[in-house]
Amino acid sequence: MPRCLYDGLRGWTQSGELAAGARLPSSRVLAAELGIGRNTALAALDHLSAEGFVVARAGAGVYVAETGFARPAAPGTAMGSRSLGLSERGRSLLALSNPPAPGHGAFVPGVPALDAFPWAAWQRLLRRHRNRQRGRWLDYGAEGGHPALKSAIADYVNITRNVRCRADRILITHGAQHAFDLIARMLADPGDVAWVEEPGYAGARVAFAAAGLSLAPVPVDAEGLDPAAGIAAWGVPKLIHLTPSNQFPMGATLSMNRRLTLIDQARRHGGWIIEDDYDSEFRYASAPLSSMQGLTTAADDEAPVLYVGTFSKTLYPGLRLGYVVLPPGLMSPMRQANVRQFREGDYVVQAALAAFMHGGGYAKHVARMRRLYARRQQCLRDVLGTDVDLIGGEAGLHVVMRLASRERETVLVAAAAEQAIALAPLSAYVADDNGEPGLVLGYANASEAEIDRAGGWLRRALAG
Ligand SMILES: Cc1ncc(COP(=O)(O)O)c(C=O)c1O
Repeated sequence: MPRCLYDGLRGWTQSGELAAGARLPSSRVLAAELGIGRNTALAALDHLSAEGFVVARAGAGVYVAETGFARPAAPGTAMGSRSLGLSERGRSLLALSNPPAPGHGAFVPGVPALDAFPWAAWQRLLRRHRNRQRGRWLDYGAEGGHPALKSAIADYVNITRNVRCRADRILITHGAQHAFDLIARMLADPGDVAWVEEPGYAGARVAFAAAGLSLAPVPVDAEGLDPAAGIAAWGVPKLIHLTPSNQFPMGATLSMNRRLTLIDQARRHGGWIIEDDYDSEFRYASAPLSSMQGLTTAADDEAPVLYVGTFSKTLYPGLRLGYVVLPPGLMSPMRQANVRQFREGDYVVQAALAAFMHGGGYAKHVARMRRLYARRQQCLRDVLGTDVDLIGGEAGLHVVMRLASRERETVLVAAAAEQAIALAPLSAYVADDNGEPGLVLGYANASEAEIDRAGGWLRRALAG
């Protein structure tokens, strides 16, 4: 059976181009017109008939079946998400889900240097662990992740981030997004108030909205999220998403006073703080800041801070590995719920990563990337010159450029796209339409030559 005849006829019946009840040409006509053997045409029709896309009526020919695939839209129904059958919740989640920035390189935010990843060493580790991991590591698992990786992460966050934990308090996840999702489903009920930073990270908003929580955007300033503004506008929250070490995307550090206020508030009111520590390894002028989770005392093991880490920035986002450090009392229920809702897996990759961390390769890679990103950021600053208003950049993978108006933002983003330069508009990082105009400029995954080219274009566009 020629695949293209079968695919074509099937596609047309599904799209409605061949309407239900329409008569198909006979196998003889199809064969003659397409220059194929009659048996081949017959085989395609037989296959479609067996799958129910067409019906053969003895002596009368072959007709398109009523499959229900391509019913015409009801009069007046707009094509769009409604006609796709999305639920109301689906539509509101879609509205919160900005399409990812197109392309790679300059100036896509949030992507590490994929060109500098040690692929050869990583492939060797994967191969070795693929050969070694047998039996239980191919089965369903329910331990919260590979023990070797949990132990490597515990050592790492203890030393580098001052996070208080042992391996048995770590749950491995498919990246930070999975952790936000699980936390929102398990620790808050539909309608509960969830504070999110404004501007802030869309991933946390989507996870909270999917769990039916009431999103409460709280403004950030030079000291990070402002708890007093949050209380005044929304009251006490059940959940808070925070990026205290490097506020996303503005780059502020949450002040000590606010950290302590928020922990105290969560403790008194039974709330939870999600400390999203997504990229603090990359702090340029000083050592990485201590975590908020580490501010709680050893006597306070059930402190209300859930520390979430990810390998998306230190290694690569497609790896889909992250973790959450939980209070001891939450460990067993969260692990059990996670197994049922998301399943564990990828133990071979987890074992390889554990070896990378224990062997020192991970720390070396992070240190090398820190130096590379510092150079790339400096290159961006050099090419843009001193007339632009850049903020952030003490840590992380992007800087923010303030612009004078939304019109300027819109025009620059559109003009850059024509030059294959991705400019992320700052105004898109807020929930409503009142966002400050600007650009979020990611420099980590662009070579200095690319930063030079794209930055030169941007400098000229700003001057023009
Ligand atoms: C603020 C913030 N948190 C977390 C993440 C990482 O998410 P994930 O681990 O799901 O890739 C990102 C990535 O862009 C981010 O910007």
